[in-house]
Amino acid sequence: MYYPDELIEEIRAKNDIVDVISGYVRLQKKGSSHFGLCPFHNEKSPSFSVSRTKQMYYCFGCGAGGNVITFLMEYENYTFQEAVQELARRAGVELPKMEYSKEAREKASLKSTLLEINKAAAQYFYVQLKSPPGRTAYDYLKGRGLSEETIKAFGLGYSNKYSDDLYRYLRGKGYKEDMIRQAGLISTDEKHGAYDKFWNRVMFPIMDANSRVIGFGGRVMGDAKPKYLNSPETLIFDKSRNLYGLHRARSSRKPYFLLCEGYMDVISMHQAGFTNAVASLGTAFTAGHASLIKRYVQEVYLVYDSDEAGTKAALRATPILKEAGISAKVIRMEPYKDPDEFIKNLGAGEFEKRIGGARNGFMFGLEVLEKDYQMDSPEGKTAFFQEAARRLTRFEDELERDNYIEAVAKAYQVSAQSLQKLVTKEAVRTGMAKPVSRPKVAGGKKEEKEDGRKTAQKVLLTWMIDDARVFQLVRGIVTPEDFTESLYEAVARMLYGQYEDGNLNPARILNHFQEEGEHREVASLFHTRIRELTTGQEKERALKETIWRVKENSIDVRLKGLHPTDMAGLQRLTNEKRNLPEIEKLHISFD
Ligand code: CTP
Ligand code: MN
Repeated sequence: MYYPDELIEEIRAKNDIVDVISGYVRLQKKGSSHFGLCPFHNEKSPSFSVSRTKQMYYCFGCGAGGNVITFLMEYENYTFQEAVQELARRAGVELPKMEYSKEAREKASLKSTLLEINKAAAQYFYVQLKSPPGRTAYDYLKGRGLSEETIKAFGLGYSNKYSDDLYRYLRGKGYKEDMIRQAGLISTDEKHGAYDKFWNRVMFPIMDANSRVIGFGGRVMGDAKPKYLNSPETLIFDKSRNLYGLHRARSSRKPYFLLCEGYMDVISMHQAGFTNAVASLGTAFTAGHASLIKRYVQEVYLVYDSDEAGTKAALRATPILKEAGISAKVIRMEPYKDPDEFIKNLGAGEFEKRIGGARNGFMFGLEVLEKDYQMDSPEGKTAFFQEAARRLTRFEDELERDNYIEAVAKAYQVSAQSLQKLVTKEAVRTGMAKPVSRPKVAGGKKEEKEDGRKTAQKVLLTWMIDDARVFQLVRGIVTPEDFTESLYEAVARMLYGQYEDGNLNPARILNHFQEEGEHREVASLFHTRIRELTTGQEKERALKETIWRVKENSIDVRLKGLHPTDMAGLQRLTNEKRNLPEIEKLHISFD
């Protein structure tokens, strides 16, 4: 579903970027820009700038940037459409409803109904907790050390002993039985009809990153089984794409998350001041969780239970995190069972120390492995190192592998050289050895070249956006078609158009890219920084080189696409190529 360009521009223009961002970040005016602490990374002095004239933001620290729509996409984790809808609401602009397909509209309204029902249920549970029938539950939570403030912050509640009172409450609010079932809150059987899924349990509302209730976990207060009952997956509740505590952790301003196993662990940690704690929702950690985390932080500390199950789960989660490009460290809670107990017994200060002493995932794996070997016998020890060497062979990157060999050698007090030899031997033995000059190098070069072409186009475009003089110089030589990357070509077309009309408006260009991946890529054009070149001469040199590369690539691409009988075309392109040295004669003064 796409909104017309004019409408998006109207909505964007009606939401001044400084006003909108001020709702999230404290900004101070300095010169022509407003500055504040960047909400996208952790920092102590402000490098996040918002420009009212350009209607764009940019962080000098982490490189985040874009227009007001990009900001909401990044901050609220919205899609382009959701961001536009939010801004339209804010500015009181009516969005056309007809553009949704019937199915899309029905699905959207079903989703919002399910969200409403879950929210109403959470409120109901909360009220129950605070009223006389909820006394035991309230005492239970207090008994586990939770403060009034924490109970409120996590919206904890109680589902009482009647088997259908939530059902009746929601029906009374006008929701249809079928909707309540689709929200995962009731079951039906032939004999009794509809009955509540949760019964006499302490309730943990599960919220998405935007604090919307999407499901529940309910805990028994005694030792009955199952200990936890969770909402089933529904249209709004996808367990592999949500994390408990994320709605608070995302704004904790720490560069890492503490990933633990249970609801209670998250809550205890938050109460102790570790507001960057999250947990998966009663399921194993998945790649979906990892990519969700990647939107907020690049580093995760695993704080799983000390038992065998917890250890195994931590060992399973580390490669998943690594695969997603997140570095993983493991914190042990021994002699306590889990972070909840640890904090209760030793307090936040000791927990902080454990964070400091965390081990990386690989070393943790070895430590666990050690337990399977008799480390006090030469045979046992040798077998252990053989297995360790086998694991070390799995690092494809040589430098990384060497670093790990060194770390292992140090930790286990053996010589790095002999461990290195053992690793090579294991690699040969298991057929993993790769000759140094394997064909991949050739492939690598090609990729590099392709990347180089793309980079040249990106740099040139960024430069033209950034500096009108560069545009004036380049426009006669490079046309939008010369940007062979179709995304850049589209941006170039709009940019040329805006310059011709004399109203450069980068924020508006961004409107056109509604698909998230493209939007981010285009946003990055507007804040990729040109390599710091000191002298004007250097800049001139770099610009000419970039123009040359872009132009040459464009000629090459067109040559390849030429029909074999098109002699005139061949002639024209050959001429163009011959004229490339003319670029050298360009002059621009950067001083
Ligand atoms: N879990 C679940 N269903 C169960 C048991 C556990 O969904 N029957 C999930 C819950 O998300 C729970 C997590 O696994 O939070 C960890 O389980 P556990 O360590 O048993 O629970 P805690 O959260 O630590 O709860 P408590 O401290 O009350 O034992
Ligand atoms: Mn636990």
